[in-house]
Amino acid sequence: MTHTSHHPQALHHPHDLHPGHPLIVFDDFCFAYESRPVLSHIDLTIDAADSVVLMGDNGSGKSTLLKAICGLIYPLQGTYRFDGAVVDEKTMRDPLFAKRLHQRVGFIFQDSDSQLFCASVDEEIAFGPRQMGLSEEEVEQRVSDVCRLLGIEDLRTRAPYNLSGGEQKKVAIASVLSMNPDVYCFDEPLNGLDQKTREWLLGFLRSLKKAGKTLIVATHDQSLADEVADYFVYFGDYHGYEDRPHIHINRS
Ligand SMILES: Nc1ncnc2c1ncn2[C@@H]1O[C@H](COP(=O)(O)OP(=O)(O)O)[C@@H](O)[C@H]1O
Ligand SMILES: [Mg+2]
Repeated sequence: MTHTSHHPQALHHPHDLHPGHPLIVFDDFCFAYESRPVLSHIDLTIDAADSVVLMGDNGSGKSTLLKAICGLIYPLQGTYRFDGAVVDEKTMRDPLFAKRLHQRVGFIFQDSDSQLFCASVDEEIAFGPRQMGLSEEEVEQRVSDVCRLLGIEDLRTRAPYNLSGGEQKKVAIASVLSMNPDVYCFDEPLNGLDQKTREWLLGFLRSLKKAGKTLIVATHDQSLADEVADYFVYFGDYHGYEDRPHIHINRS
C-alpha cells in the first residue's frame, strides 16, 4: 500500500505490528439500536496477534461488537480506536480512511450468503484487492494464490449464490484473505458446516494464528475455543471457562 499522509489519522499499513501493540481499544463505548442499549460502557483492549474468543448468550451483543470493530456501526458515547485512529461516524466519512480500515480488519459474517454479492467467485475475491487499487495483474495473482491456498480453484467461475454453505464460507474467507488484513473477525464460523469443512476451518484458524494475525472469534463451540483462545471475553452474565484467562464486559 502506498503511504499517504493527507489524513491526520491515516491508517497506514503497518510494517511493524508486534505482539503487545494495542490495536483495538474501546473506551466507555456505548451503542443502542433505536433506544435499546446493546453495548454498554465497553472498556476493552485487544493487542496485535491476540487470539480472542467472544462468548455470551444469544442477543448479548457479540455480533454488534464485531461490527463495531470493523467500523460498520459507531459509538453513541465513548470511543473506539483502531491502531490509534478514532473510528466513528465522522472519520468513516473519509472514503480513504474507511477503505483502509476495511482492508486491515476483515469480517467473515455468520451468514456467508449475505456477505457474497458478485456474479462469480473470481469477482468476489478480486473485489477487495481492486478496491485497494492494485493492478489487474496483482489482483489476478492474489485471486489465484488465495484460491490455491483454500483449494477452491474449481469454483472460480461459479456463481456464489449457487454454492453450498461450506463452499460459500470458503469463498467469503477467500474474499477477506485476498486483502491480507491484520485482523480477522469470525462470527460463529462453524455454524452449519459439515465435519470435514469444520476441521478444515479449525486448521485454517490455527495457521492464521501462527502467522501472527489478530483473531476475534464469536463462537459457542468448545473445540474452536480450545483451538484458538488466548483469552475469553464474556458478555453479560455469561460464565464459561472460569479457569481460563477471561474478562467480563457488557454486564447489566
Ligand atoms: N439491525 C438490528 N436492529 C435492531 N436490533 C438489532 C439489530 N441487530 C441486532 N439487534 C439486537 O441487538 C442485540 C444484540 O444482538 P447481537 O449483537 O446480534 O447479539 P449476539 O451476536 O450476541 O447474539 C439483540 O437484542 C438483537 O436483537
Ligand atoms: Mg451473533
